[in-house]
Amino acid sequence: MFIESFKVESPNVKYTENEIHSVYDYETTEVVHENVNGAYQWIVKPKVVKYDFKTDTRVPKLGVMLVGWGGNNGSTLTAGVIANKEGISWATKDKVQQANYFGSLTQASSIRVGSFNGEEIYAPFKSLVPMVNPDDVVFGGWDISDMNLADAMGRAKVLDLDLQKQLRPYMESIVPLPGIYDPDFIAANQGSRANNVIKGTKKEQVDQIIKDMREFKEKNKVDKVVVLWTANTERYSNVIVGLNDTMENLMNSVDRDESEISPSTLYAIACVFEGIPFINGSPQNTFVPGLIDLAIKNNVLIGGDDFKSGQTKMKSVLVDFLVGAGIKPTSIVSYNHLGNNDGMNLSAPQTFRSKEISKSNVVDDMVASNGILFEPGEHPDHVVVIKRAMDEYTSEIFMGGKNTIVMHNTCEDSLLAAPIILDLVLLAELSTRIQFKSEKEGKFHSFHPVATILSYLTKAPLVPPGTPVVNALSKQRAMLENILRACVGLAPENNMILEYK
Ligand code: NAI
Repeated sequence: MFIESFKVESPNVKYTENEIHSVYDYETTEVVHENVNGAYQWIVKPKVVKYDFKTDTRVPKLGVMLVGWGGNNGSTLTAGVIANKEGISWATKDKVQQANYFGSLTQASSIRVGSFNGEEIYAPFKSLVPMVNPDDVVFGGWDISDMNLADAMGRAKVLDLDLQKQLRPYMESIVPLPGIYDPDFIAANQGSRANNVIKGTKKEQVDQIIKDMREFKEKNKVDKVVVLWTANTERYSNVIVGLNDTMENLMNSVDRDESEISPSTLYAIACVFEGIPFINGSPQNTFVPGLIDLAIKNNVLIGGDDFKSGQTKMKSVLVDFLVGAGIKPTSIVSYNHLGNNDGMNLSAPQTFRSKEISKSNVVDDMVASNGILFEPGEHPDHVVVIKRAMDEYTSEIFMGGKNTIVMHNTCEDSLLAAPIILDLVLLAELSTRIQFKSEKEGKFHSFHPVATILSYLTKAPLVPPGTPVVNALSKQRAMLENILRACVGLAPENNMILEYK
């Protein structure tokens, strides 16, 4: 059975006018390597740590500024939200289609809340804690191309024509703000669309982005802004000691107009200065160490990298399944033929390298979790060739047998990416309203500025230095769901259903 909303009643949970306060027992384990009677042994000690969570329930009016607004993803997301908000339906060759948010974890997935008369009760994911309604988001942003969003939607060739026709009046007058363009960082084949660019030094460009964000906030009367990069994949920036390795060096390099500071890093710097969360949806290393340092010191959320939309999501499910089932993947070969503009951008070796790196590590933690199947340091032979979304998984099964699974995936990939962008900005906003402390900490604090709770949505989750990276999709989802459950005093979903055993 599906219910739309619920309220938690517990001595550990208090709903006040502007807050949900929950006291939470975090059950975890401590692993130690101890000398017991002369021999070292691994000892696992269960422990319970008390946490306090405080969630501000005042949902702000949210502005979202996209870098690369006129691209396939930017125009598709904007169109999709307008269509939902306006309740637009359109005729396809099969039926009359209604606008929806399918593919969004927050808007279209559900959570189990318990059982009632022997029946499982589910509720929308978004009913856990108050969240911004995507229909109410105000969009804005930058693009190095001055094409209006209606034409950009046409250029993207993603949405049905009948829908595009209905959306044109809403989008024709929207033109992205000029963007920061540096031909050294994207492929030369993008040069012809760069007719809408911010002039001046790097410092002046950062100042312009800051000015743009302030004006956007003021003009649209939004309470909060989140910025997200969905522009083309840049090449990797070289990380160089003295240039971009610390906050101070990075800022000095901007002042000196150093050529190795990428446009995406400049946008991110502007955001950190303004206290605005910045999310990177592409694979490049926008978050050079100096930028991470800057974000941590200013306690401003940064999240990334690279939207996890199709092939990688599937990989993080399939390898989790195989390894979890005790089957040994020995070879994974992925082809991905991107027939879109960023695909053309990726045909240059330097930008392709960024994509290849972000796609290459996604199975590491799952492989490392099973020492029965893999020797230390042993890995499946993993090749990523971005040509066509086809994947071949070869595994070793019982008694040396071979098992091959081949998958083929075709779709408009912006229709996978747009709802993920929405989740990223909605969850980034939400996470800035959550504060917590453990029993050992005196003061409430927010999440670490490097936002690992967004990892379900990104291919190469950015984590704070020294933190484990989790790639398995089910674990990433459980982490997010269980943290939000903790905010309202609900235990993690343990699937034991002991009541019926
Ligand atoms: P696109 O090429 O259609 O759009 C990118 C837009 O960014 C273009 O309009 C371009 O003019 C603009 N742009 C380039 N550099 C800019 C800059 N410095 N400042 C402002 N605007 C700039 O690409 P698409 O398909 O929308 O993808 C966007 C990004 O998302 C790509 O980097 C891609 O790798 C990433 N991505 C997309 C996924 C998907 O499923 N669509 C999945 C994972 C990542």
